[in-house]
Amino acid sequence: MRVDVLLGLQWGDEGKGKIVDYLAHQYDIVARFQGGPNAGHTLYYNGNKVVLHHIPSGVFQPHLLNLIGNGVVIDAASFRQEYQKVVDTGVDISQRLFISRKAHLILPTHKILDAASEAAKGSAKIGSTLRGIGPTYMDKIGRNGLRVGDLTLPTFEQAYAKLKEKHLGILERYDIAAHHDLPAMEAEWREGIEFLRSLLLVDGEYWLNDHLRQGKRILAEGAQGSMLDIDFGTYPYVTSSNTVTAGVCSGLGIAPQLIGEVYGITKAYCTRVGSGPFPTELNDETGEQLRQAGGEFGATTGRPRRCGWIDLPALRYAIMLNGVTQLIMTKIDVLSVFERISACTHYLYEGKLAQTLPFDLDRQPVSPHYETFAGWANHVFTPDAALPQNLQIYLQAVAAYLGVPITLLSVGPQREQLVAMT
Ligand code: GDP
Ligand code: IMO
Ligand code: MG
Repeated sequence: MRVDVLLGLQWGDEGKGKIVDYLAHQYDIVARFQGGPNAGHTLYYNGNKVVLHHIPSGVFQPHLLNLIGNGVVIDAASFRQEYQKVVDTGVDISQRLFISRKAHLILPTHKILDAASEAAKGSAKIGSTLRGIGPTYMDKIGRNGLRVGDLTLPTFEQAYAKLKEKHLGILERYDIAAHHDLPAMEAEWREGIEFLRSLLLVDGEYWLNDHLRQGKRILAEGAQGSMLDIDFGTYPYVTSSNTVTAGVCSGLGIAPQLIGEVYGITKAYCTRVGSGPFPTELNDETGEQLRQAGGEFGATTGRPRRCGWIDLPALRYAIMLNGVTQLIMTKIDVLSVFERISACTHYLYEGKLAQTLPFDLDRQPVSPHYETFAGWANHVFTPDAALPQNLQIYLQAVAAYLGVPITLLSVGPQREQLVAMT
């Protein structure tokens, strides 16, 4: 009776959607525990590419139940469109998607506040997805937020008007509100909340613990990545939720001793969207090769992702924070374009080589120290072929450094492009 967890160990986009979709057949329930439409989880269903933002990546397994947990923030307007896209693929989720009454609502004015906050920061902007994530979590923590369950209370309209008025008061200090068509945004959002009211709203914490007691197998799906965690990421260039395993407890109502396997996902290299420190970033031809070969453009915003070699000190840190029991490495195929591959094993800062991240990573430049490996240039991955020897050497070195077994490799974007390591 355990809840397994799957989460990203880097700055997001590690391939969580694809792996959850693959693992989902072993589970009865997939539950999202934090984040919101800032997430973009890509998977392929019947050969069609689908990008999910709020909806758990288990929806394409017909037997599976899905929960959007209390730790998630929901934009009713974009949620309705996302739901429709899933329905358009021919999948019926009307009796399989449950939403926690305690999940918080992103209001139209939260999105404008997000834009205002970014504009005010100027060159120090976070590079947020502008989905209203930060301001919504601020209202949650500030005890002003509106929750999904409030939608069914007679006090909702009054509470909405009050919070909107507060936001408009703040926005008076900025000239940004004029650039947003609030009435149009509200009209779309109102259609969204009407739709939300018609869905299966539950007390997610009871719902999940009851299912667990009945012996149901549950997988918690993370969004973003550990280096974007509000406490442990590269603050302030982070998102506004706890993306690490601890977030499963608060974001779903699961007691710590009920956490089982923790699958940590990493790309075979590194990417980051938005601003902030990225020690192994390559602003050169190699970085561009990674971007092109990996199709590294944001699934939510389409922005080019910053690219670099794998960062082992950062991974070791994320593994420590999450209690990772199994590592899954994705996008191995992308490295097939290189003759030689590098892995950062240490950082050089304050005149010393270190394997730990400095507190002020956002101010203090650290120089990556690399170990290089012979590549497996032009290898084409097929289901039956043995792994190239140079790849095996690379994987063994990474697993030895990190102290956690690599149990699954992803060698292409499609569902079946996986190699289980025995
Ligand atoms: P997520 O946010 O962690 O779910 O990841 P994204 O969907 O934002 O980004 C991962 C991207 O890599 C998507 O375009 C996937 O289709 C793609 N992808 C996932 N695994 C692999 C892989 O092993 N190889 C390649 N080439 N692409 C992959
Ligand atoms: P998935 O789940 C990559 C980044 C943004 C920005 C910072 C804060 O697809 O891995 P926010 O909108 O959350 O206030 O933005 O976090 N970011 C992501 N980067 N993948 C994501 O999600 C992300 N969600 C947020 O680019 O730098
Ligand atoms: Mg993504």
